[in-house]
Amino acid sequence: MKNSISVLHDSIKKHVSGKSIFIDDILLNDNLLHARVVYSNVPHAKIKAIHTHNAKNLHGVHCVLTSKDIPGVNQMGPVIHDEVCLASDKVECIGQAVVLIAATTEKIAIEASKLITIDYEELESVLSLKDAINKNSLIGSVRSMNRGDIDLGKKQAKHHLIGQLETGAQEHWYLETQISLAVPSEDDEMLVYSSTQHPSETQAIVAEVLGINKNQITIETKRMGGAFGGKETQANWLAAWSSLLAFHCKKPVKLRLSRDDDQKITGKRHPFIFDYEVGYQSDGSLVYLNVIQHTDAGCATDLSFAILERAMLHNDNAYFIPHVHIEGRAYKTNLPSNTAFRGFGGPQGVACIEFILDQIARKLKIDSALVRKINFYEEDAKNVTHYGQKVEYNHLHKIYDQLIKSSDYFNRKKEIENFNNSNEFYKKGIALTPVKFGISFTTTHLNQAGALIHVYTDGSVLISHGGTEMGQGLHTKIAQIASMELGLSMDFIKVGATNTSKVANTSATAASSGTDLNGMAVKNALDQIKDRLIPLAKELLNTNDEIVFENNYVGILSNKAKKIEFKKLIQEAYLKRMHLSASGFYQTPDIGWDKIKGWGKPFNYFTYGMCVSEVQLDVLTGYVKVLRTDILHDCGKSINPNIDIGQIQGAYIQGLGWCTTEECKYDSKGRLLNYSPDTYKIPSIQDIPLDFRVELLKEVDNPLAIRKSKAVAEPPFMYGLSTWLAIKDAISSIKNHQVEPEFKIPATHETILLSIDKLKNEI
Ligand code: MTE
Ligand code: HPA
Ligand code: MOS
Repeated sequence: MKNSISVLHDSIKKHVSGKSIFIDDILLNDNLLHARVVYSNVPHAKIKAIHTHNAKNLHGVHCVLTSKDIPGVNQMGPVIHDEVCLASDKVECIGQAVVLIAATTEKIAIEASKLITIDYEELESVLSLKDAINKNSLIGSVRSMNRGDIDLGKKQAKHHLIGQLETGAQEHWYLETQISLAVPSEDDEMLVYSSTQHPSETQAIVAEVLGINKNQITIETKRMGGAFGGKETQANWLAAWSSLLAFHCKKPVKLRLSRDDDQKITGKRHPFIFDYEVGYQSDGSLVYLNVIQHTDAGCATDLSFAILERAMLHNDNAYFIPHVHIEGRAYKTNLPSNTAFRGFGGPQGVACIEFILDQIARKLKIDSALVRKINFYEEDAKNVTHYGQKVEYNHLHKIYDQLIKSSDYFNRKKEIENFNNSNEFYKKGIALTPVKFGISFTTTHLNQAGALIHVYTDGSVLISHGGTEMGQGLHTKIAQIASMELGLSMDFIKVGATNTSKVANTSATAASSGTDLNGMAVKNALDQIKDRLIPLAKELLNTNDEIVFENNYVGILSNKAKKIEFKKLIQEAYLKRMHLSASGFYQTPDIGWDKIKGWGKPFNYFTYGMCVSEVQLDVLTGYVKVLRTDILHDCGKSINPNIDIGQIQGAYIQGLGWCTTEECKYDSKGRLLNYSPDTYKIPSIQDIPLDFRVELLKEVDNPLAIRKSKAVAEPPFMYGLSTWLAIKDAISSIKNHQVEPEFKIPATHETILLSIDKLKNEI
């Protein structure tokens, strides 16, 4: 069976008919208790007293727990132990959990939560990144990456530019809010149904909090209703809290965050401020880049250093820069701990260099696409990144040439100019932005995966692997890989729920690498089973020729008539007492780098692509309509083109949301003001480009991943930046591109109107 069969997502029909089972749909008996978290409503304070008496006495309440009731360690920090499970003596952000309640109904649990009172002594708090920079509230050591010599670059460059870019937070807005269902059993065993991207880590945190071994905890994840990074670490909280309640109540406990609570208490995409200094020549080529990246970690470390690191690793995007110095600083604030979000710092780093190139183009009066092209990494020279990794199998020029043509970029640019010259209240803008994204966890040891495969005597195959399904189609792709490797039709293959008792010590499904890693582990297990079956097939077919697995049969290449049904072969193998299960493993070869020096080969390979966006701006209201978006993206030899195109479309729209309408607003007390969908504006159907064209790059394969495919998930998120810069281009046309508009992420209507206002008042 060949690659590139566009099989439907395995849950698509169940999703649209409401038959998919999410955790909230799991039916248990009347023993099920419902939980509620009581969290801090002040950003920074000492806890003087916690009053639980009235809540405990409410009819229907089973358990009211505080930190004193934790049998194990009061910790949930995934990388560094700086995150308590329940606050004991102090709180460090609004939303930090203090008390847990379990009751017979959700309504009673909510009633009980209103009866809890906490006495605080408020402390001074840090409530914004700017405030944190002023107070230098670093949460860990300063990181740096260096190549070349900035001082030499300063001498070599003809032009210099100094500036700042701010990028904002973003709420994950997965459709299924954070949820966990803990079911206790004998000997303190606990089965936890968790909407987590990282079952093994969830297992570790639950074990730690309960003070028992990991072998007593099983985490099961059938599917998530979206995650986007928001369930890489912070799903652990819900699992730990529900397990604590289940442990004390000796009954199953379900904890589901309401939408409002989810938005208030979980972390977001990291906001960044970039202070940059750059030098370039008159043709637009970059000479040096000197940047300080500041980021808001929130009140705990979580994944902030890996995210900061990825932002630093992507500050070059697709461009060769001879002299580079990047300094990365993560600050502690009294806001919920920011966390993984699609792109994992990459989009922020890319936004910085794209913003810079946009300015250089305006200053030099050269088309910004040409300024980008002149700086692209090349095949032989100019092919090493600022952290020492070679840019191999570089498709940047190929994609640029194809997309410039297919999008008719230069003609449309002229048409836009004509339009802008004859319209005062509507202005159009266009921009092309590329992406080059590194595929691998930058935490090298995470680049491993496992699988467990059973072949049953009816020829059906059950696959368990370490990856989790969050809507991205991982299980579908894995089933396709197995189908292709075994030459077996899809109806013989099933991918089971992810379960820590089937595959242990797994990594998060993250860093876009779910298919790359787990697909290889599955292949490894299947290869073992095939290696056992092949001698038997030769014996039964009485041949020494090469054996092939094809169309549900096992046969020989030279004589297609000589074959045995796969199912039959398995039955024969069983009678011969052969082992029909295998566990597979994979570790990405040939990667590794020195994080402290910021040098080496962090990534297995790069993914490339480009996007051209055209927008129309209403100068009087700031309203933006995306007229057309063209994307050309490299998925190698795609395993499932429809799923990949869906991922690209979704990522672009999600990136567009981050760049335009999504803004987290806090008041002076650190309270999130827009914590529900009526005030927090994620993109809707009207925000989809009127003309939306997504193509996969043809005739490319990738020697470095499963079946020559490429990861898809995160890189296309960055295409939202082309729309963002198209908006800036439209604003800039108001002053005939003579003045640099003020701009940031997100470019909300407010940001746009202020920018226009400022521009109009410039002389
Ligand atoms: N697609 C859907 N539908 N839902 C999601 O939550 N998460 C994204 C991406 N695509 C996500 C998604 C993120 S952040 C990552 S890292 C990848 O899926 C993870 O899955 P993969 O590695 O299997 O592509
Ligand atoms: N990407 C996503 N998640 C991660 C990474 C990464 O590079 N490193 C650790 N967790
Ligand atoms: Mo994705 S942010 O790596 O979960």
